Amino acid sequence: MEIITPFNQVDLKSWRLSGKDIIDSEKFISQLVNIFTDEDERLKMDQQTLVYNVQAHLPVKEGTPGGLYFGTTIIQPGKVGDEYFMTRGHYHLNSDRAEYYWGVQGEGVLMLMDKQRNVWAERMFPGSLHYIGSHIAHRVANVDYKPLIFGACWPSDAGHNYEEIDENGFAARLIEVDGEPVLAENK
Ligand code: PA5
Ligand code: MN
Repeated sequence: MEIITPFNQVDLKSWRLSGKDIIDSEKFISQLVNIFTDEDERLKMDQQTLVYNVQAHLPVKEGTPGGLYFGTTIIQPGKVGDEYFMTRGHYHLNSDRAEYYWGVQGEGVLMLMDKQRNVWAERMFPGSLHYIGSHIAHRVANVDYKPLIFGACWPSDAGHNYEEIDENGFAARLIEVDGEPVLAENK
């Protein structure tokens, strides 16, 4: 019997994915409307500034029960006002679906929020492992001077629910105070 080489691969330095069924997406500062607190600052920036990009291996159709997706996110270093570059953040559409994140390169902070809007945060670093339980919104900020890379694995029927976060944001935001990340209440 033949032993085959898998079509899909992960480059363990850059965590770039190659092979088939891979999607690539980019988020520029122009697209991140009302994500950062200081909209005036965001609008003053070069709107072509890349904030983060996502690659994911989607071997089954989105929404299929029982499958898994595997992705990597790279968040560039930077800030909007005093707030670090971060992902949009979301709950899952099928809200009870969990997810793993793990740190690959750089220092970051994973912000988590339950349905009662209680927020807590975990430090991300190369090798950190994060279990994001059901019904928990998640968002990652890069607090480093270099790109932050993290991996993710989630069920193919989880989906992304951005609406709630787009409308109400997180109950806390991650700002830089005297060169250090601080989780502050979002007034
Ligand atoms: O599925 C996930 O949770 C990740 O792959 C995220 O989609 C990714 O990190 C980008 O964040 P967001 O989807 O909040 O823009
Ligand atoms: Mn998710």
